[in-house]
Amino acid sequence: MKKFLDLLSEEMGKAFEAAGYDGALGRITASNRPDLCEYQCNGAMAGAKRYHKPPIAIAGEVAEKLTDSEVFSEAAAAAPGFLNLKLSEEYLLKVVREMAAAPKFGLEKPEKKKKIIVDYGGANVAKPLHVGHLRSAVIGESIKRIKRYVGHEVIGDAHLGDWGLQMGLVIEGIRERQPDLVYFDEGFEGEYPQEAPFTISELEEIYPASSARSKEDPEYKARAMDATRRLQEGVRGYRALWQQMMNVSVSDLKKNYSSLNVEFDLWKGESDVQYLIPEMVEYMKKEGYAHISEGALVVDVKEETDTKEVPPCMILKSDGASLYNTTDLATILERMRLYHPDQIIYLADKRQDLYFDQVFRCARKTKLVEPETDLKWIGFGTVNGKNGKPFKTRDGGVMRLETLIQETKDEMYRKIKEGREMPEEEARGVADLVAVSALLYGDLSNQASKDYIFDPDKFTSFEGDTGPYILYTIVRIKSILAKYKEQGGELSGLSLQKAFNESEKALMMTLVQFNTVMESAAEEAAPHKVCAYIYELANAFNHFYHETKILGEPDAARREGLIALLLLTRDVLETCIDVLGFSAPEKM
Ligand code: ARG
Repeated sequence: MKKFLDLLSEEMGKAFEAAGYDGALGRITASNRPDLCEYQCNGAMAGAKRYHKPPIAIAGEVAEKLTDSEVFSEAAAAAPGFLNLKLSEEYLLKVVREMAAAPKFGLEKPEKKKKIIVDYGGANVAKPLHVGHLRSAVIGESIKRIKRYVGHEVIGDAHLGDWGLQMGLVIEGIRERQPDLVYFDEGFEGEYPQEAPFTISELEEIYPASSARSKEDPEYKARAMDATRRLQEGVRGYRALWQQMMNVSVSDLKKNYSSLNVEFDLWKGESDVQYLIPEMVEYMKKEGYAHISEGALVVDVKEETDTKEVPPCMILKSDGASLYNTTDLATILERMRLYHPDQIIYLADKRQDLYFDQVFRCARKTKLVEPETDLKWIGFGTVNGKNGKPFKTRDGGVMRLETLIQETKDEMYRKIKEGREMPEEEARGVADLVAVSALLYGDLSNQASKDYIFDPDKFTSFEGDTGPYILYTIVRIKSILAKYKEQGGELSGLSLQKAFNESEKALMMTLVQFNTVMESAAEEAAPHKVCAYIYELANAFNHFYHETKILGEPDAARREGLIALLLLTRDVLETCIDVLGFSAPEKM
């Protein structure tokens, strides 16, 4: 289906043409003055110079041509040359009906179906997830879902940090605590134990302690670096211990991510592409892309138009060790070989902008990707506390994501219990769903690149621009529908009716924007646009609800029309929250 403003603009274009002007002047926009009109066109002003005529004269002539319009019930020229427009209710009904009958509410398939990899999550093995990891996971998941919904093939990859110095630090930490483990016995040739020698909580304690010690104790740090090197060289006991860390850590990560409805298609990590590095390095040397500079192997990525300093991309350090970006480049190489994506989207902290710039330039220059492969980086801002500084626990520590999720669930449970009678188990289930909406919406409703304030009180509120408010609206619709059924009503085969009052019309006018919004959210990889839309839609619905008798409406045909409108509103809202990554309960 065409986008709503395009449909209106077509009609206006015809009127401009009929009056002897360029049809392209007939662009329609939403009204800047909702008190005066529903939509407006500023084309007469744009055309005034070209046609040597006062804009108001042009607008008057065009308005004349719209007197019999099926689309606009009113078109008035207003000084200095606006066209103020009111939509015909019949026409709006026609479009809403078409939308309700069309697959995906009239969203058209993309011109070209793309294969897209979304690289998100980016958790580091053996390090606890903290609130900062929320953004990458939640935004990435939503972008994946939006792109998939509009019709692309999307693969989500967790891209675990499972290969760097942190692994050596954990190995050293374990050795300190349990020096007699068989993994450290170099002469050992038997099978290693099935059971890991640590639990997830122990593992998560070891890393920070070991990391802190390495900062004070250079000798310890050297041992950790040595352990990292030995792991990377493939020493058997180190590999086996590493595998244990992976098993324990990944199953914990899966649990945490799934509590936020984050699902990866691939659980690949940095370690998975190490096999490609020697080949890639050889290739870069042979083709003359890489050269030695101060002992290190680098690729120059400066460009003439640079206004800032873009240092070379380092491929190997002078001691021959590879780096974070070496792995990212090898991952690009592997992705091109295995999946041949049209686009790779990366979610990472916005402080990594220079880094991704270097990596992408290097991948292009060395032809790891094709000229048309789109490498897109989405940098997200910091999650701050109310004091404007990075979010911390009450005693100033780093807030673990798991704790944060649990606290939000508990708070929601308290609120749910407060207002209503609900069996314990059901209340817990509802609280969990609503808590997830609070966290996800609290994050996603902000433009990704901006910092935002993590405000648990605000996020869990049933009023305002929040996840719980959206769910509350959906549940309100569901409960009216349930009552309607209880009273013997049928929910299928209903037909939408002409809007009866302003608030009903406004609800319809918001509904028909769905395909426009979803397409642009997908195009720009911008979940916040979906949030802004459903907030507007929920407001429009609630306004309509307060002004309209629904179940009490005596006229049967009109009552059925209202129920049909509720069904459509519910379906659009539920589709939108699904691409944001959460869902609504039946009751709350
Ligand atoms: N593990 C990284 C970190 O904690 C994030 C990974 C981002 N993705 C990537 N392909 N580099 O900073």
